[in-house]
Amino acid sequence: MNAQRMATLNVDGKAIELPVYSGSIGPDVIDVRSLYGKTGTFTFDPGYMSTASCKSSITYIDGDKGELLYRGYPIEQLAEKCDFLEVCYLLKHGELPNLAQREDWNKRVKRHTMVHEQITRFMQGFRRDSHPMAVLVGLVGALSAFYHDSLDINNPEHRVIAAVRLIAKMPTIVAMAYKYSIGMPMPYPKNSLDYTANFMHMMFSNPCEDYEPNPVLVRALDRILILHADHEQNASTSTVRLAGSSGANPFACIAAGIACLWGPAHGGANEACLRMLEEIGDVSRVPEYIKRAKDKNDGFKLMGFGHRVYKNFDPRAKLMRETCHEVLNELGLHDDRLFKLALELERIALEDEYFVEKKLYPNVDFYSGIVQKALGIPTQLFTGIFAMARTIGWIAQWHEMIGDPEQKIGRPRQLYVGAARRDVPTIERR
Ligand code: SDX
Repeated sequence: MNAQRMATLNVDGKAIELPVYSGSIGPDVIDVRSLYGKTGTFTFDPGYMSTASCKSSITYIDGDKGELLYRGYPIEQLAEKCDFLEVCYLLKHGELPNLAQREDWNKRVKRHTMVHEQITRFMQGFRRDSHPMAVLVGLVGALSAFYHDSLDINNPEHRVIAAVRLIAKMPTIVAMAYKYSIGMPMPYPKNSLDYTANFMHMMFSNPCEDYEPNPVLVRALDRILILHADHEQNASTSTVRLAGSSGANPFACIAAGIACLWGPAHGGANEACLRMLEEIGDVSRVPEYIKRAKDKNDGFKLMGFGHRVYKNFDPRAKLMRETCHEVLNELGLHDDRLFKLALELERIALEDEYFVEKKLYPNVDFYSGIVQKALGIPTQLFTGIFAMARTIGWIAQWHEMIGDPEQKIGRPRQLYVGAARRDVPTIERR
């Protein structure tokens, strides 16, 4: 990268020059890699509020405009004009597929939808009431025990086949976790169906009856997957990149991303948000919870609200609300209590000066729980659906990192505030 200009930093009276780079869009960056060598000081940025960890050409978010672009295409257009597998192709290859490429890609993914039969036996080791995210972390990590033929991350073919296997097998593994939890037989993919219809078939069919996925609901879920596919260097993607920077295999890296996504501040927010709506129960109790969300001593946060980057509306939340409306209408649930409660909670919060001043808007997780519940997906599985969708984002970012000639193992430093050197006292003197 060529420096657009230099930034001058004065440390203890000594001025140092640091290169400033511009991307194609978005904020410029100051390259501080030489800072420690020149000044003996580190930058300090817990939570990476002002730190770019890498350069990337995959996804761009403009938090003020409420804009989200995958490889330059606005999320609104992709959600309307593409299906999830096309978006997977776009995120991984950088361009949308033409007809022939799309057919070839769909065929490739379909050929890898099954998992090794011993994975189904692996499932038997889990309690039936295990949280699906615990199962996903375990099973996806375990995939690296089954694919010794594609673990060399320096081999481009291995990287491609590992990516295709992960995209193809996540729906099967998520559906297996669900079926196992309800004591139903393990589902097998039906490759005559497209990606999302196949997932719904594995989730909701049973060996005794025919099952035809509802095309309106399939389209809605497919759009939900598109909305969750990638999102710059969020916590779980940064986890995948950091794990990958050590040379760990892609299955282990994605398992690390799943573990991070599980947290309620991140991908676990959709499950937490639905539980919060069920706890609020009635519109009359909304003011009480808004008050709690504003009370610093309460620790309660309005789940599904706020975002590190979006300081305006999250474009995904808007699309999710529309999808929610569509699904509830299709299912004759337009009077859905939780949806009406969520709409009222959003309306009241957005009129409250605390939320306006702190720029807290609904994020992708605010409506996703309601629509997934209406689709028949159990609450505990919401984050599993998020992980299934985000696998393509993680894989694309991991791929980009591995292919970056400047890539090094990620190893942050610290501001040490602990004890200075001291000698160990004998037990009598402790
Ligand atoms: C996702 O990074 C990504 O891109 C993530 C994601 C993706 O696609 O990968 O978009 C997916 O994780 C969406 C976010 C889902 N999480 C939630 O809905 C949980 C509730 N939201 C908060 O935990 C919070 O808003 C975060 C974690 C999302 C963002 O946290 P930040 O950026 O660290 O902001 P903050 O916590 O410092 O909040 C700033 C202020 C604080 O008050 P002050 O200390 O300034 O007085 O706003 C307050 C916070 O207390 N605040 C909230 C709030 N969120 C922030 N107050 C009440 N309710 C909330 N939800």
